[in-house]
Amino acid sequence: MSIAFIDLKAQQARIRDKIETGLSAVLDHGAYIMGPEITSLEARLGDWTGATHNITCSSGTDALLLTLMGLELKAGQGVIVPSFTFAASAEVMPCMGAIPVFAEIEDDSFNLNPEKLSAALAAGKKSGIDVVGIIGVGLFGQPANYADIKTFANDHGLWLVDDAAQSFGATLNGHPVGQLADVTCTSFFPAKPLGAYGDGGAVFTDDAKIAEIIRSCRVHGMGHNKYENVRIGMTGRLDSMQAVVLDAKLDIFVDELALRQQAADRYAALLEHLVGVPVLYRGATSSWAQYVIKLPRGIDRAALIQKLKTAGVPTAIYYPIPMHQQSPYTQYPVSGCNLPVTMDLCDRVLALPMHPYLEAAQQEHIAASLKQALA
Ligand SMILES: Cc1ncc(COP(=O)(O)O)c(C=O)c1O
Repeated sequence: MSIAFIDLKAQQARIRDKIETGLSAVLDHGAYIMGPEITSLEARLGDWTGATHNITCSSGTDALLLTLMGLELKAGQGVIVPSFTFAASAEVMPCMGAIPVFAEIEDDSFNLNPEKLSAALAAGKKSGIDVVGIIGVGLFGQPANYADIKTFANDHGLWLVDDAAQSFGATLNGHPVGQLADVTCTSFFPAKPLGAYGDGGAVFTDDAKIAEIIRSCRVHGMGHNKYENVRIGMTGRLDSMQAVVLDAKLDIFVDELALRQQAADRYAALLEHLVGVPVLYRGATSSWAQYVIKLPRGIDRAALIQKLKTAGVPTAIYYPIPMHQQSPYTQYPVSGCNLPVTMDLCDRVLALPMHPYLEAAQQEHIAASLKQALA
């Protein structure tokens, strides 16, 4: 049995005709960057998020970077961020000369723990850092507990950004990702729940001033025209061909989210007595970018991965090393006692194949192989 970790081929078969027609149109009109497809994609993303400003850009990392520019983050200022995340969530602060302050996560959701934010703020202050904001991450597809995180942010005069690179399409208490923070960033990397066929990303916000700066910064800090440069920016635009792909994928996105939920439910039924399975909590839905289990403590994870590979089951570890222990980041403040929940999860997590086209028989094989490997 052949099992793909992420199956983009089955998806492509559903939308290939529309993509080919759209790509031909771009070849005909020749507006390869910021063509008419970008304007219609941004409107369509707005229908999804309900945000006033929906700004596409060149990647999820650039969405974060543009957001920090929009928020006018200054060199030396600090931003609270989880350590258990993809590098980009923390990387963008040093890119701006600013400082990530690493905070603890919850064991059940893998996301920022609102109750540990005051320890992070204290760690930043103790290092003499002016902490101005929080970047939460909707890891593996489930939004962080933004209701409580927002309360903390408001109480302490901090802005809040949702790094929703993995969680676009999810909701919290009936509100879509895109509305859960002051600014939301997502990624259209091909493997993401809504992925292009190249790099891409987007920023969503209701704040007109932030949106104006972001639009300017994605074209080198342009003013009234692109040869008037009123601030320092970057090349941050999305290209028209990626917009064609995303438009086609949006047609089937609702259906794919339901299929992902179905696959997650099947996994839970098959695995919940064997390993720690992910749980949705407090009114959240997930876009199920990844299905990440927690292995029992004391298991030789490398040996288990090898056994699964032999059984034809691909896996991945998100993430084996927390950001605060990666060499370029060890200089930055860490809250509490070296983030014990983060450390524990880095040792125990394992991502199983997850995509909308996973079949029940494949999941049964994955579960049986895992059971055998754990025995
Ligand atoms: C949580 C998170 N943030 C940011 C990014 C960066 O997105 P991109 O690869 O599009 O730059 C990713 C991508 O993997 C991610 O998972």
